[in-house]
Amino acid sequence: MRTQVGIIGAGPAGLLLSHLLHLRGIESVVLEARGREQIESTIRAGVLEQGTTDLLTEAGVGTRMKSEGAQHHGFELAFEGKRRRIDLTGLTGHSITVYAQHEVLKDLVAARIEANGTVLFNVSQTSLHGIDTTTPSIRFHHEGEPHELHCDYVIGCDGSQGVSRNSIPRALRRDYERVYPFGWFGILVEAPPSSHELIYARHERGFALVSTRSPNVQRMYFQCDPKDTVELWSDDRIWAELHARVDSTEGEHVVEGKIFQKNIVGMRSFVSTTMRHGRLFLAGDAAHIVPPTGAKGLNLAVADVRVLTQALDSFYKEGRIDLLDTYSATALKRIWRAEHFSYWMTRMMHRLDDASPFEQQLQIAELEHVTTSRAAATAMAENYVGAVAV
Ligand code: FAD
Ligand code: DHB
Repeated sequence: MRTQVGIIGAGPAGLLLSHLLHLRGIESVVLEARGREQIESTIRAGVLEQGTTDLLTEAGVGTRMKSEGAQHHGFELAFEGKRRRIDLTGLTGHSITVYAQHEVLKDLVAARIEANGTVLFNVSQTSLHGIDTTTPSIRFHHEGEPHELHCDYVIGCDGSQGVSRNSIPRALRRDYERVYPFGWFGILVEAPPSSHELIYARHERGFALVSTRSPNVQRMYFQCDPKDTVELWSDDRIWAELHARVDSTEGEHVVEGKIFQKNIVGMRSFVSTTMRHGRLFLAGDAAHIVPPTGAKGLNLAVADVRVLTQALDSFYKEGRIDLLDTYSATALKRIWRAEHFSYWMTRMMHRLDDASPFEQQLQIAELEHVTTSRAAATAMAENYVGAVAV
């Protein structure tokens, strides 16, 4: 098999890259370890920055997102029993869209299939070869048969557990990591919205987040022990915890409903540099992870793809390699900004078991500051909507 660009992983990064390249007349093949039904039903992120929705729209996959996604112009910070609004649009001119990641994936898979693109699901034993030569290839098994895909470039979009990152020699890589001693318990609930905007709550019992999926389905999260299992958390225990952490002293409260999905995610910050070695480029979670507090993971994957699409396009149209050479450095500027913001927001909002009473008061002082100073609120809002100069 031969193509121009071989892409490993059909997450948001891999599928969007493949489709944007197609729109520029560049051929690619996407290899995915999981099945189509599995990727289209895994519950993950939900907040899309305007830059992300703009790129999805430009790629021709924005129709359902526009009709089914919800545009939000602000969010609330809950702390000390009160609620304070961050006016995203008033402060930055930008808004966000709440639309689930697996819905984005459904739209992208449909677009690839409609355009006769090649996405091979359920591949196994993926391995990279010759990435430091001009003739790289990807070997893999599909439907019981071994295959080799020859290409000009290999793009590793295979997430945090993929094989691509480890194909860059250890001596040439530098990894930066911070693991947090807590996780997020996520639920999907059949209920009307508790609030018309997202609520990020800081409470001495721990963090909580009220988000939404549709007028009838809500997404909520609360800080838990990463070693917890979903069986430890009965529905009653979950509601008691959410009420304790989110309800305000002015009578606003979380609306209960039937919980139909529960999951726990660990939290870490991670950056692997360089994002390029020879003919291999990394994009998305393959190169970097953020804790979900700032809602940046999916948006960063899309931002990498924007930079890489331009670089590959300039190579195929004009024979230029300068944008490929600067890809890693360009992408890392936005990545480190988002790493800092996610870390900052995580530290301000979560119960930190090693924090002294003094440090707990600092969290409250910081929340008071971002909700009363226009300058501080603007900095937070710019980061949240992704309208940052990088
Ligand atoms: P992924 O979406 O991880 O896609 C990588 C794909 O590569 C996968 O489909 C995988 O099956 C495939 N793959 C892996 N190895 C191979 C291989 N060897 N061969 C072929 N294919 C392979 N972000 C938020 O902002 N908010 C959230 O609430 C949130 N929740 C999350 C919950 C979970 C459980 C996880 C894992 C992530 C969450 N994120 C969240 C982060 C966000 O979902 C990711 O940043 C985003 O999915 C990154 O997209 P990606 O395309 O880079 O990687
Ligand atoms: C959602 C996830 C996030 O990580 C976040 O910060 C906001 C919303 C969500 O899944 O809706």
